[in-house]
Amino acid sequence: MARLLVTGGAGFIGSNFVHHVIAHTDHTVTVLDKLTYAGNRASLAGLPEDRVRLVVGDIADAAVVDPLVAEADAVVHYAAESHNDNSLHDPRPFLDTNIIGTYTLLEAARRHDVRFHHISTDEVYGDLELDDPARFTESTPYNPSSPYSSTKAGSDLLVRAWVRSFGVRATISNCSNNYGPYQHVEKFIPRQITNVLRGIRPKLYGTGENVRDWIHADDHSSAVLTILDKGEIGQTYLIGADGEKDNKTVVELILQLSGQPTDAYDLVTDRPGHDLRYAIDSTKLRTELGWVPTYGDFESGLAATMDWYRDNESWWAPTKDGVEAFYASKGQ
Ligand code: NAD
Ligand code: DAU
Repeated sequence: MARLLVTGGAGFIGSNFVHHVIAHTDHTVTVLDKLTYAGNRASLAGLPEDRVRLVVGDIADAAVVDPLVAEADAVVHYAAESHNDNSLHDPRPFLDTNIIGTYTLLEAARRHDVRFHHISTDEVYGDLELDDPARFTESTPYNPSSPYSSTKAGSDLLVRAWVRSFGVRATISNCSNNYGPYQHVEKFIPRQITNVLRGIRPKLYGTGENVRDWIHADDHSSAVLTILDKGEIGQTYLIGADGEKDNKTVVELILQLSGQPTDAYDLVTDRPGHDLRYAIDSTKLRTELGWVPTYGDFESGLAATMDWYRDNESWWAPTKDGVEAFYASKGQ
């Protein structure tokens, strides 16, 4: 049994991780979350109170962070400003949380010699051409494109420096695009699912040809637990489940599963600097640590996710109109 401090545990992937930990281990969890627009207490509803505690606070506030890190056996650091489109509109919170917040946590982990796992993204590697057979590996050079991905790249480099300079016992994982329950409706898949549920046509940026490498959030969680358990200190592990799909294919599948014509979508203004394609080679994680994903079939994972949004309208409805108004102001 371990005491985990999970930052950002009221967000999409963090809350999926907390649910996974409670279902599959006997660990206890303290969630540290600022409850920004992206955090939601309701994502932790139903979890046992004797094993999960929510502390509302900022990871950039050393006075809040220090005692929580001191009492933990391991920190799993999910908290971030996570949306590329928001980072193009207002980059500052991305610097405060992703850079200063990570620095603040690392200093506490250093002071108290606490194991640290840093959650990051494949976007630190930039993008690939659509027809390039290559995929990202742990040795691909960093080349981030957006304010979001550059702050995540900066946070990864801080973690590496704290390992080398101060002996902090840290690992890093860089994962591809997640889908599943509890994802904010600003993101691509929930936006299109809830558009269809509301009778709004799905919105594809540009031509819809951009490719993302989809993994179910529960598979991401099992990979993180595997790294916490067996990962080598100082190492980076890429997490992916061979789920490459172009955006148009994903929208067509959502429409088809909803019983609608597969061309009932709109092409809208593209994202400035829009990364073309991400693709992960997760050989290292699979061969060195023995991890395997369990959600092999994207279509059934997507159908289950659509069911979740249909059944949990009260979770997403309060945010939907504001998100659509923001996108409409950008022609998206
Ligand atoms: P999210 O936006 O859904 O959740 C982020 C959470 O962090 C929210 O609960 C928010 O309240 C909290 N938070 C933000 N600023 C904070 C602060 N200063 N102090 C404390 N809490 C704060 O994001 P997500 O999609 O769940 O992503 C979680 C992590 O996973 C991020 O580090 C992201 O870079 C990484 N990641 C995401 C994906 C993806 O597909 N979504 C893929 C790979 C990696
Ligand atoms: O690759 C991992 C990253 O995946 C994470 O680091 C980020 O936190 C996460 O948000 C995600 O970034 P993306 O920018 O890839 O995700 P997003 O859901 O914003 O968009 C996915 C793709 O869909 C992208 O090509 C843009 C496109 N898109 C997005 C929206 C919101 C559309 O075509 N229409 C839309 O309405």
